[in-house]
Amino acid sequence: MIEIQRLATIALVQVMLGKNLDHALTEARKQAKGQLTDHERAALQDIGYGVQRFRQELENVLQPLYLKRKPDPPIDALLVVGAYQLLHTRMAPHAVVSHAVEVAALFHGPGAKGFVNGVLRNLLRQREALLELSHATPEGKYSHPHWWIETLQRQYPQEWEEILLMAQQHPPMTLRVNRRHSNRDQYQQRLSQAGITSRPVGKEGLILSEPVVVNRLPGFAEGHVSVQDAAAQYAPHLLGLHGGQRVLDACAAPGGKAAHILELISDIQLWALDKDAGRVKKMEANFERMGMKAHCAFADATRPEDWWDGVLFDRILLDAPCSGSGVVRRHPDIKWLRRPEDIPALAAVQGRLLETLWPLVRKGGRLVYSTCSLFREENQEQRDRFLGIQSDARLLPVQDSLCREGQIHPDRDHDGFFYAVFQKI
Ligand SMILES: C[S@@+](CC[C@H](N)C(=O)[O-])C[C@H]1O[C@@H](n2cnc3c(N)ncnc32)[C@H](O)[C@@H]1O
Repeated sequence: MIEIQRLATIALVQVMLGKNLDHALTEARKQAKGQLTDHERAALQDIGYGVQRFRQELENVLQPLYLKRKPDPPIDALLVVGAYQLLHTRMAPHAVVSHAVEVAALFHGPGAKGFVNGVLRNLLRQREALLELSHATPEGKYSHPHWWIETLQRQYPQEWEEILLMAQQHPPMTLRVNRRHSNRDQYQQRLSQAGITSRPVGKEGLILSEPVVVNRLPGFAEGHVSVQDAAAQYAPHLLGLHGGQRVLDACAAPGGKAAHILELISDIQLWALDKDAGRVKKMEANFERMGMKAHCAFADATRPEDWWDGVLFDRILLDAPCSGSGVVRRHPDIKWLRRPEDIPALAAVQGRLLETLWPLVRKGGRLVYSTCSLFREENQEQRDRFLGIQSDARLLPVQDSLCREGQIHPDRDHDGFFYAVFQKI
């Protein structure tokens, strides 16, 4: 486990420099001495994600122990990793400390051993007092940046605390059953025969009692089932799909919602665009694996002159690029990587996408706008601004008890999502 602590430290240094967590973990794995077992990979993943969930709490706990000054990045990151293991895992404390001492020597030579040993032992001794001090500020208590907490407090005066606490939880593993192959009850039985227990959510969803590696899921390789949060599974249902329609998924990669559309209705002419070439390749491979046909294109949706054939669409799904503030429990690095100024910049991009795509919808057709965000600038304000400038747009109600005014609040079974359904009149 010394190696896992070392790799988790390498990954954390990268996230502290502004790199995305998945990328940082992939890079860290490449530096492993020898092949990692599945168990070791899972342990590294757990620590990598766990540290981001509680990062501010951990940094606050360590700060008084640094006394003179913060140590250099690898030692600081190693201590954050060690603090996480001591405070949030069941690893034996003496093992955490002795491994960290060895890892410190690998990074900084034997001179760093005493310091790391002293800090972690003091943390163990003063654990309760340090935690109390750390939790005295909202940033330490909820492990989110100050501006993020303030925004939620302003926009969700009743629910902000629940939202922040939810973002520190482990997300469930949720499946979407491919209706081309079976229905939810049949697939639930297949799972149960494979020793996997689950419960239904939404129309095609199953929530597993425990996450499993995907190759344990019956028929996964053949596309009988996909992994997708329950809130993301609303999109195709809100589009009001029928056979023969021409549908555009304007920001489609890696193709989760596009595949769901095709699973529900096979004779749809689907255009799936994305402006990220790598993600378009992934999407094409996914469709191929699942035996689905779509017109996939690497294209910028705000430049229809480059890709559009001039025929109007019956339906458009705009699953817009957003802050991801509704999916922090799945991507806990998001809250540290985003900056307050990103929000108006993203809102401007979303507004441009909406305005460019609206003329491509036929009369009587629909555009569904979605984000996995909780921030009003990207959601309700975007919707209201759009309705204010488009006199031929009418808002259709979303008939769902969880989707209050289009906003799905994050709860045990759902990520935070927003939907607005516009009809062209
Ligand atoms: C929320 S993700 C889409 C997820 C996808 N709908 C799914 O369900 O798997 C947003 C996507 O928008 C793409 N994107 C951002 N700006 C775009 C643009 N101008 N044109 C096309 N795609 C864009 C990003 O590359 C990203 O893949």
